[in-house]
Amino acid sequence: MQTEDYTGANRKAWNTSAAIHAGSQMETLLRGFRQPGYSCLDAIATGLLRDLGLAGRNVAQLCCNNGRELLSIRNLGAADCVGFDIADEFIAQARQLAAAGNTPCEFVRSDVYAIPARYDQRFDLVFISIGALGWLPDLPGFLGVVDRLLRPGGALLIYEMHPILDMFNEEDSADPPPLRHSYFRTEPYVESDGLDYYTGTIYDSGPTYWFHHGLAEVVQGVLDVGLILRHLREYGHDISSTFAHFEALAVKPPLCYTLLAEKPVAPAL
Ligand SMILES: C[S@@+](CC[C@H](N)C(=O)[O-])C[C@H]1O[C@@H](n2cnc3c(N)ncnc32)[C@H](O)[C@@H]1O
Repeated sequence: MQTEDYTGANRKAWNTSAAIHAGSQMETLLRGFRQPGYSCLDAIATGLLRDLGLAGRNVAQLCCNNGRELLSIRNLGAADCVGFDIADEFIAQARQLAAAGNTPCEFVRSDVYAIPARYDQRFDLVFISIGALGWLPDLPGFLGVVDRLLRPGGALLIYEMHPILDMFNEEDSADPPPLRHSYFRTEPYVESDGLDYYTGTIYDSGPTYWFHHGLAEVVQGVLDVGLILRHLREYGHDISSTFAHFEALAVKPPLCYTLLAEKPVAPAL
């Protein structure tokens, strides 16, 4: 299969999941975003974003889903904000949430690999968060897109599920949980029982393709496009809603990480 076969199948599945997610999330989010300054971001994301300084900064979020995080970033003081997502239905929800609070964010339905050139070097910050990287078959290609969207001096902030979680099954409750998959797995995880990570509803979503990208692959990929690594931190809390029970494990893997990198003002010699 080619990259667009995987992303096309994932697009269908994400579109199918949108009504189910809306059933459990939209009312709360609509109520939230009607309040000035509302944010759904946790303390880690909020602290890092505030440290970067959002005032006057243009921000892109890739794989933005219903836009809840990007709208929060706008409410924290960012300037122009553009969210990109492959799923038509989630982009529609994002526009609905933006309209609820009259929040000026642009939402673009696009495969990240096909983001139009008019967005090149438009952004001071590219943000990627919670369950995004695993949907992307070509990690170096994706980081190339990040690099072209960033203006010189701009930053990439990733707040993601830790890739070590790909070794486990979320259904396992033993402590320690059994290792189910190799950390060096290269074939995608193919599932078709739905994408409802909020309530766990099982339904036929058609095939979805999730790709394991190890932490070193992410770091090396960031370095290979010429970004400067500023920090890499691992944490023991769950950001995915699916591995929350791992927080209490006595023998515990890292559950998420943040990575901050910067595009040099002048290209490295
Ligand atoms: C788990 S959701 C992100 C959730 C978001 N971080 C949040 O917490 O609200 C993953 C998103 O990635 C999007 N996605 C998957 N593959 C994509 C691609 N190739 N291009 C753009 N978006 C993609 C899906 O449509 C979905 O909305």
